[in-house]
Parts: sequence; C-alpha cells; structure tokens
Amino acid sequence: MRIAIIGAGYVGLTSAAVYAKLGHTVFAVRKDAEKVEMLKRGEVPFYEPGLPELVKDGVQSGRLIPTTSYAEAVPNAEVIFICVGTPPLSSGEADLSQVFAAAREVAENWGEGYKVIADKSTVPVGTAQKVRKVIEEVLVARPQNRSGLATSQFDVASCPEFLREGSAVHDTLNPDRVVIGTDSERARAVLSKVHEDLPGERVITDIRTAEMIKYASNAFLATKISFINEIANVCDEVGANVDEVARGMGLDPRIGSAFLKAGIGYGGACFPKDTKALHSIAFLHDYDFKLLKAVIEVNKAQRRHFLRKVRQMLAPLAGKKIGILGLAFKNNTDDVRESAALDIASWLIKEGAQVVAYDPQAAENAKAVIKAELSPNQSSALDSVFITCPTAEEAARDADALLVLTEWKEFCDLPWSDLRSMMNQAIVFDGRNLLDSKKMRELGFTYVSVGRP
Ligand code: UDX
Repeated sequence: MRIAIIGAGYVGLTSAAVYAKLGHTVFAVRKDAEKVEMLKRGEVPFYEPGLPELVKDGVQSGRLIPTTSYAEAVPNAEVIFICVGTPPLSSGEADLSQVFAAAREVAENWGEGYKVIADKSTVPVGTAQKVRKVIEEVLVARPQNRSGLATSQFDVASCPEFLREGSAVHDTLNPDRVVIGTDSERARAVLSKVHEDLPGERVITDIRTAEMIKYASNAFLATKISFINEIANVCDEVGANVDEVARGMGLDPRIGSAFLKAGIGYGGACFPKDTKALHSIAFLHDYDFKLLKAVIEVNKAQRRHFLRKVRQMLAPLAGKKIGILGLAFKNNTDDVRESAALDIASWLIKEGAQVVAYDPQAAENAKAVIKAELSPNQSSALDSVFITCPTAEEAARDADALLVLTEWKEFCDLPWSDLRSMMNQAIVFDGRNLLDSKKMRELGFTYVSVGRP
C-alpha cells in the first residue's frame, strides 16, 4: 500500500521505517530540509538503537521516501498517518496546532481517490472528528468538489502507537496490540491490511475509545511508577526493601512486574505530558480525576525527595563537586525532555555545587536545557558549573559524591573500585536502584538508594 507519514520524530520515523520493512511504500514527510537530507542518507537525527539500519534499508530499497513535500507524499497515498508533536500548553492541555496544520496541508495536496487519515499522535478524545472537519472544509472549497463529494472521499481514524524510546524498533515490530479506532467499515479494512503482517491482538473499536486507550495506558503506567515510588518512601521509613516488595507484588499476574521500578520518577516526552493532558480533559468535562492528580504530584515530589537526601548528607552543597551518571530521561536514548536528572542537576547548581556529568548519549542535549534553566549569571558561567565529560571516571574524579540518575545498564559494569579511589568522598546516591547495595558497601561506599535499607 502507499502510505504517507506526517512528522518524522520517534513515532513517525519508526512507524515509517517499519511499514517500509513490511513491504509498503512509505513517504515520510518532515519540513526541515536538512533533516530530510540526513534521512535520505540513512542517518537518524536522534539516538534510537536499530533505527538507522532500518531507515537505511528502507531508503535503499526505495520503499521509504523521506521528503519535505506534501505534494509528493499525499496525492497517491491511501493511508495518511499524522504523527506530529502534541506538546503541552501551559494549562496542561495538548497543543493540537501541529495536528490541524498537518490535516490542512494534507487536504490542500489531496489529489484524487479515497484515503484514510489516522492519528498516531496522542490526542484528546474528539480530535479525529476535528481533523475530519479541517479536511472537509478544504476539500469542499476545492473547485472540482462543488458537488459535495468530499465526505465520501475519506475517513478518519485513531491508530495509537505504544512504542518506548530506546526500544522503539522492537516495540513497533512486536506490538502487544494493534488498536484501530474508526467508525467506517472501509477504513477498518484498509488499516487492518496495513498491519496484517504484524503480530499482536487486534483491538477494533470506535475512534473515541481508541483515543482514550492511549491516554489510559500511559496514565496507568505512570500510576504504577508513582505508586511504587510512594511504597519506596514508606520502605525508607520502616526499613523494608522496595525491590523485594516489587518482586513479591509483581509475581501476582493481576499486578504484573513491569513498571514497578522505584527511583526518581518518570520523565520523557509522553508520561508527563499525557498525564497532565488527561487530567485536563477530565477537568474540562467537570470531572476531578483525583488519582491522576496525585500521580503527577508524587512524580514531581520524588525528585525533590531525592535532592533532600543528597542535601542532608552533603550540606552545604555550595562548593561541592558532584558527579552525575546519566542525564537522559531513561536509558538507551539521548532524549532529555522532562528528565528528572536535569532537574536535579540544575537544582544542585542553583545551590552552588559544581556538577560534572557523564551520559553515553545525552550530554549535548542536556547542556542546552541546563543553560536555559539557570539564571543569566550562572548560565554565562555554564562551563564552570556544569561540565560534561566523556567517561564516568572523569565524573568521579575528586567528586564529593556520585549520583546515578539514569538507568543505563553500562553503569552496573563500571570499575567501581577504581572510581572509589578517585573520589574525594566515596558516596553514591543511586536514584535508579541500579546497583547492588551489598556490593557497593563491601567496596567501601556510603551507598544511598530509593526505598532500600
Ligand atoms: C512511554 C510508554 O511506555 C509507551 O508505551 C508510550 O508509547 C510512550 O511513553 P517512554 O516514555 O519512551 O514510553 O519510556 P518508558 O520506558 O515508558 O519510561 C518512561 C519513564 O518512566 C522513564 O523516565 C523511566 O525511567 C521511568 N520508569 C519506567 C520508572 O521510573 N520506573 C519503571 O518501572 C519504568
């Protein structure tokens, strides 16, 4: 089939490359000409394991066609997936301006023939119908459509994507479920065909339900994380071990073991944004979603709670040199959006500490964000208060403490004994419960983690 994907970020580009691998012809539309040239060379503008190889294969096979041009992508496409960003407004609501702008451009470059327009971006309930309106308005205004044929030319749908950054290719190729939300038999058949070679249960439903499935899934996963973080805080008080508690809980299949890792809370482009958006959707319908509100608050507080532990042991922070391992919001990505690590780093700097940080991928992205977070004075001295370095050893050298803030697996295999001898004080705060507490203490560290004695 011929598919156009509008927006070539994590969701759009991964979906485009996977559909091309499945044998479809896929146009991936991105406005930025420089980035499109990169994609044509098989280079991916962000770090995502396995994606460059898949993009290169797709481009070489001729089935994946990166382009800046709607006019090239849209007229012959049978299915158009909208995968643009839906960042949060200050109210917490999703900003849908990119979605509607994409819909308008699709309509303006329509060509002929029946098409399915499906949202993959996470969008509030009712968005697909608004997309329908935007497209109808443009199509009806076209001179050749004065007869009012527009509405029979297309259907809208919601086809949410559940990939995680860092394992996006694997998740897209091996979905647990494929959700197809549409009110049209014809669109259902088309979208079922697009996904026919993918495994996973099919959830065929109406548009509004599909839109809600995505928000409810992310909100539930965020709830699991905030729940286990609160359990961890209680474990700290009563001397229990949250890792063992999570294992004991997770073996019950009704609970499940995934997303019960305690730490400094969730970040990234999805959970923070989607929990706020769902809360705000409920609020706009006069419903006070109390549980979700608490999930959001617990997540915010968890970072502060961790900082308090650091402050308690190291106070005053002014003049201290603090090594940080991990800046990305999670492992296997260079994405620092809403990263707990960056909040903690900038709070430490604001309290007068010098931060020396190592991250396998995210240092460059982190620097730009930290610079924007700081006061003009601190920001002009950025290179002396926030130093990024190419190895964990350099972050440890002369440090008064090391903070593990992202769950990169490679941090488990560091030569911790050597690191200890380089540090000014052998103190490790593990914000991800990544390391073995017994081993760390045997090596002579003062070791503090989250909810573990
Ligand atoms: C998430 C959803 O998992 C995915 O289905 C959806 O499509 C997009 O949002 P992503 O944000 O890429 O994916 O990563 P995820 O692995 O879910 O991690 C999100 C955050 O939660 C990270 O900051 C991670 O460190 C944190 N996390 C995750 C925990 O703190 N504990 C856990 O047990 C799991």
